[in-house]
Amino acid sequence: MKIIITGGAGFIGSAVIRQYIQDTNHEIVNLDALTYAGNLESLESVSGDTRYHFEHVDIRDVDELKRVFEQHQPDAVMHLAAESHVDRSIDGPADFIQTNIVGTLNLLEVSRSYWTQLDEGRKASFRFHHVSTDEVYGDLDETGMFTEETSYEPSSPYSASKASSDHLVRAWNRTYGFPIVITNCSNNYGGYQFPEKLIPLVTLNALDGKPIPIYGTGEQVRDWLHVDDHARALRLVLEKAEVGQTYNIGGHNEKTNLEVVKIICSLLNKLVPNSPYVPHESLITYVADRPGHDMRYAIDASKIENDLGWTPDETFETGIEKTIKWYLDNSEWCQHVQDGSYQRERLGSGDKK
Ligand SMILES: NC(=O)c1ccc[n+]([C@@H]2O[C@H](COP(=O)([O-])OP(=O)(O)OC[C@H]3O[C@@H](n4cnc5c(N)ncnc54)[C@H](O)[C@@H]3O)[C@@H](O)[C@H]2O)c1
Repeated sequence: MKIIITGGAGFIGSAVIRQYIQDTNHEIVNLDALTYAGNLESLESVSGDTRYHFEHVDIRDVDELKRVFEQHQPDAVMHLAAESHVDRSIDGPADFIQTNIVGTLNLLEVSRSYWTQLDEGRKASFRFHHVSTDEVYGDLDETGMFTEETSYEPSSPYSASKASSDHLVRAWNRTYGFPIVITNCSNNYGGYQFPEKLIPLVTLNALDGKPIPIYGTGEQVRDWLHVDDHARALRLVLEKAEVGQTYNIGGHNEKTNLEVVKIICSLLNKLVPNSPYVPHESLITYVADRPGHDMRYAIDASKIENDLGWTPDETFETGIEKTIKWYLDNSEWCQHVQDGSYQRERLGSGDKK
């Protein structure tokens, strides 16, 4: 297959591309605008392969999208390009609307017009896989889990924009018979994640002896999944799921943010025992909570387990240790991605005018 992957220079997209090039014979077109969150360094291990192509394209640019489809004649699209950070969506929601909603509309329309003119065989096997988040469901009380039937109740500009894009993708299936699949996944972690997200932020701040910010009481519960497990699930859904299906993907790893931070601190105490900042827990600093912060997310992943036989390989304990070691071993990558404007400052407090 030849697959266009949007957002392939980001955290999850780059993990998917590394797997595709290393583990399959598929040809991959990475379509990415290289925003602050996109880094081609994350693809160095595969970028020399003849089955890997890069297109520096913004999904807001319809003409460029048309050119890429015309030129590459893909068999499938996996759509990950998005503005993805909740805190940034609080400070500046407009980019989220433009990329996550309008950009998805552009991609749907260009893909549909390309798909319409395919011969019957290629038309029947074509897939548009939209990659989304569990945050579209809003939050949960202390019990219960999100299933594929849970109604949408997004809380942040980010999750509202992702929910809108999910609705568009489903409507393109209902209205035009366009062959889509959708996945909604819980919080990912692993190497190559931009250090504005909880796990790399805490790790790098702790290594530098900087305060480790905990939003509110830190009692918010998230379900964590290692990015390589997510990437395997995405590949499986693209290749095996029936048209029109939705799958929730999660790791059965519910932890409060405070628990996650304490696990990272104790791993760092073990892995860098000579650091002047041991015990790293002493760097924990409580800050004002995120406005509209969801209390708990939990994913019921039984549908993908039963239908497609997917289960995660990593437990949180194995995955988090690998992840922390990755950040310790890849300080150059961490340095390079922060050479731009982002310096791990607090975002999304709601204070920015
Ligand atoms: N990170 C998570 O925990 C998580 C969980 C579930 C779902 N998701 C979804 O998975 C997808 C990927 O998430 P991620 O964490 O890898 O995000 P990321 O922020 O690391 O990467 C996003 C990528 O999209 C690119 N991009 C942004 N705007 C673009 C535009 N207008 N045109 C083309 N490219 C553009 C960026 O350059 C970057 O390479 C997103 O759709 C996100 O909503 C993420």
